[in-house]
Amino acid sequence: MKILVVGGAGYIGSHMVKMLSKAGHHVVTLDNLSTGYRDAVKYGEFVEGDIADSDILNQVFSSTPFDGVMHFASYIEVGESVVNPGKYFRNNFSNTLNLLDAMVRHAVKHFIFSSTAAIFGEPEYVPIDESHPKKPINPYGLSKLMVEQALESYEIAHGLQSVCLRYFNAAGADIDGELGERHVPETHLIPLILQAASGRRESISVFGNDYPTTDGSCVRDYIHIVDLCSAHLLALTKLVKGSGSKRYNLGNGNGFSVIQVIDVVKQVSAKNFKIVETNRRAGDPATLVADSALAQSELGWTPVYDDLAVIVEHAWKWEKNYFCK
Ligand code: UFG
Repeated sequence: MKILVVGGAGYIGSHMVKMLSKAGHHVVTLDNLSTGYRDAVKYGEFVEGDIADSDILNQVFSSTPFDGVMHFASYIEVGESVVNPGKYFRNNFSNTLNLLDAMVRHAVKHFIFSSTAAIFGEPEYVPIDESHPKKPINPYGLSKLMVEQALESYEIAHGLQSVCLRYFNAAGADIDGELGERHVPETHLIPLILQAASGRRESISVFGNDYPTTDGSCVRDYIHIVDLCSAHLLALTKLVKGSGSKRYNLGNGNGFSVIQVIDVVKQVSAKNFKIVETNRRAGDPATLVADSALAQSELGWTPVYDDLAVIVEHAWKWEKNYFCK
């Protein structure tokens, strides 16, 4: 297949580009490098550009008859979205419409959308399946839900078919150690704990110890980046073969508390470091765990790296090799 990966220089996008290329597909990355890295795009073609720019989109779509588009180019910080909602609605929603309009102009019919557990808001039950009510509690989650809804209208009007994949907590790194997580600033739990383990930061903060969970810290469902990417590849392959539009939740179905994740990092890294208990972070639900039965049965997707120690091992290898040499 010929695939356009928008945001292919970012954490998830760069792993996706690698997987698609290794599977023999022709990949073009379009990325404005606002948060991604040119050197993370190790396979396929690269075009620097922004999806807000219709001329660039026309050039890219004219150059290759794409079978499908995968879209990873979003802002992802929940807290920032609360204080600067315009940034999120403009890029994550409005610019995505620009991309969809370009697909319509160039008759590209298949779209894989990087969605999020944040579309569900405060869970009414866990594990969260696809029919769980969607009531996002921050502009980030709302911006993603708005795209999911817009896609329904684009399908009716233009026949554009889509799979929306709602990620829980993406983590880990490339098995070969070639790629990994490089957010600036880093806000995600596992890379921050690894920074404490490697000595790049003094301590790790636990945001809240009074949640209704076994040890009082928040529980999340961590999914290996490679498993996440394999679900995308399966989804696109089925979509192109005519399976029709779908929405899937992607996680391992296992919840780990912040304290448990810290313990796993200590075991894997054999390092000790300081833990500081602080106040809750605004907007954090107590527990987010996915029910991914639908993705497993319909896509034939089976997470391979569903052991948290393995997820952490791969991320630790990246932390040491990339940041601590
Ligand atoms: N946490 C800490 N200390 C830290 C950082 C995080 O205790 O220093 C806690 C958070 O409060 C949360 C858990 O660790 O309970 C996981 O936090 P992350 O920031 O790693 O992940 P989130 O669950 O908040 O966010 C994930 C994705 C986001 C996405 C969000 C909603 O990582 O990109 O889900 O889908 F926006």
